[in-house]
Amino acid sequence: MKGRFHPKNDRSLNQSGNESIRDVIDRMGMKRRRFIMTTVGTSALTAIGKVSIGGFLQTVEAAPIPSSVGFQGIGFESIKPNLRKPNSEPPVLEKDLVSVPNGYTAKVLIAWGDPITPKAPIWAPDATQDAAAQEQQYGMHSDGMHFFPLPGRQFLNRVNRIDGSYYTGQTYNSGILCVNHEYTQESILHGSEGLSATTNVTIAKVRKSQAAHGVSVFEVSKARFGNDWTFEPKSQYGRRITGNTEIRVSGPAAGDALLKSKKFNITPTGSIEIGVNDGYTAYGTLNNCANGYTPWGTYLTCEENFNGYFANPNTDVVPTPGLEDRTADIRNTQRRYGIPAASTTYRWPEVDPRFNAYTNPLETHLFGWVVEIDPYDPDSKPVKRTALGRFKHESAQYVVDDNNRVAIYMGDDEVNEYIYKFVASRPFDSRRIGANRDLLDNGILYVAKFNADGTGEWIPLIHGQRGLTAANGFRNQAEVLVKTRQAGDRVGATMMDRPEWTAARPRINGFQEIEVYCTLTNNSRRGTTPASSNSPDGTTAASGSRPPVDAANPRPSNLYGHIIRWREDGRRVDTNTFKWDIFLEAGDSTRTESNFQGNINGDDMSSPDGLWFDDFGRLWIQTDHAGNGTGNLVNIGSNTMLAADPNTKEVRLFLTSPTDCEVTGITSTPDGKTFFINIQHPGDSGDAANPRLTSNWPASQGYGPSNRPRAATVVITKNDGGIVGT
Ligand code: FEO
Ligand code: CA
Ligand code: CA
Repeated sequence: MKGRFHPKNDRSLNQSGNESIRDVIDRMGMKRRRFIMTTVGTSALTAIGKVSIGGFLQTVEAAPIPSSVGFQGIGFESIKPNLRKPNSEPPVLEKDLVSVPNGYTAKVLIAWGDPITPKAPIWAPDATQDAAAQEQQYGMHSDGMHFFPLPGRQFLNRVNRIDGSYYTGQTYNSGILCVNHEYTQESILHGSEGLSATTNVTIAKVRKSQAAHGVSVFEVSKARFGNDWTFEPKSQYGRRITGNTEIRVSGPAAGDALLKSKKFNITPTGSIEIGVNDGYTAYGTLNNCANGYTPWGTYLTCEENFNGYFANPNTDVVPTPGLEDRTADIRNTQRRYGIPAASTTYRWPEVDPRFNAYTNPLETHLFGWVVEIDPYDPDSKPVKRTALGRFKHESAQYVVDDNNRVAIYMGDDEVNEYIYKFVASRPFDSRRIGANRDLLDNGILYVAKFNADGTGEWIPLIHGQRGLTAANGFRNQAEVLVKTRQAGDRVGATMMDRPEWTAARPRINGFQEIEVYCTLTNNSRRGTTPASSNSPDGTTAASGSRPPVDAANPRPSNLYGHIIRWREDGRRVDTNTFKWDIFLEAGDSTRTESNFQGNINGDDMSSPDGLWFDDFGRLWIQTDHAGNGTGNLVNIGSNTMLAADPNTKEVRLFLTSPTDCEVTGITSTPDGKTFFINIQHPGDSGDAANPRLTSNWPASQGYGPSNRPRAATVVITKNDGGIVGT
């Protein structure tokens, strides 16, 4: 099974299933026949006459996918999946590599532990360095990221671009990368000693773990000749934001009593209680999963499974002075957000009282936000933007409409949770970039309701409306935001199959709609019995429901996931209504449990997660499943990155990955010629005694020493210097 250390709510399904029928049926042939049947039709096949199916297929498959409205085509052919090495035990894949199509190169740029600030030491391959070193080095288990061009702040405002021409006249040879570090694998973070459920946890280990979380900001540049990129550890932009960095809290919930947790002096040897926080200050950002960015040149990092760092073994919490009447409600909110009885993976609460959710319950309210970072100003303080709501944030995709209204689209990644959008009150000012600095502090947060007839409603989460009243536990707008999940319960939002990334289609080449896509990675509880729904009174524990199938989430025990998309009515982001459809259902076209609805055109996949449009209208999909080619994944193999045509839904496989890893995080230079992607938790079946049990990546791909696998950022270029995907 995948990801022994991966946050539980992020763990994808991998049911052991029937024996592979790969040996019986030529899978690729099957898929290709399917492709032909769905795109060409039987009459056209009949008309082929003497041309063999094989010959015809070759012609079709070799052809580029042509450009069409809003889409500039795909020029590469699908590569072969990276399947399990026959009979390997523990299971490993045939290639411990990142592979891309002929004509492309994938090269590791930077890996866990590499120095990104002038003070940083070189990484020690035995992983014996301490928290102070890790605080200056690229963190662990990289996830979402974004490239910000240098030499100056660029506002990449899509509404000002016509046919992508903004990008064609200029090449970009340097920039700042912001990279999220979602979580840590404690068993290989702490050298040969590791950390398990039974070994001794120390404050030194916890501090190192906290330092390996958060965000890395560092400069990258391209060599004068060729396509090679390197990172620059001496750059003025290099900095780490960790699980302990001081962060400003802003927006409607800032200063509220619910955010005034205990204040600690955080030192290398312990956390010493020194008073109470002011509600405008937080320490650290955690479980930084995916991301967003803004047209005013800032980075958005999203806090996902923050619950796993806390623990509360009791059925109540220590009352907070002034909030005594809220004690039961605060404990209920911990359940609604999945605060566990014990932090079995990280074990921070055992030595760091800040993360004791029983004695310091309000600290949990300081996580689960979107955090804005200015990469161009290394002295700027990150800001938690409470107006965007508190939940297990996956990503944050902005759209600016023709009225310069700004929306941020977001998913809450847990089974049966919701899709949201935030619409800023003030318009985007493209002439005075500084005027947008606090745009995300004022606006309306909406939650999505998907109707069976293909229409949808954005329901505003405004205090005093639709039952969001004091009588129902929301005494002000701050409480609506701190308890965003319960607000969604109250207004009757649609429970989804784990909303992951959101991606907005560029409005280019004659495509004018505001069209947003969201990956729904899987849901083992959908359609199971006894059926139940999130209670409107907000008392349902995290992932506690078993909703029936519905139009937007049509598969019971949704094993492989799907991608949904919607168009905003009137091409406005501030509309309350939209139209939606299902873009594709993922699966294995040869296996019956996939329960296809017949709309896969191309390569099979499981558990879509990362999702991103390039500036030429190609939809890039990254997957997050077990990544070892076992069970229902025998024909899918590794996690992958694929490109899709948003008009025809044709999908092509672009990238396969090493054993036991996730492919996540994607960004490009604005010219589209360099892609950056992340490989997270390679070989995570290994442990302290045998870190290289199932993977030795990236050393296996020629990067760095080979003591243990490391999460890393990979650069992808086209060998002829062209745009990736063409
Ligand atoms: Fe961290 Fe939902 O992926
Ligand atoms: Ca995931
Ligand atoms: Ca993810």
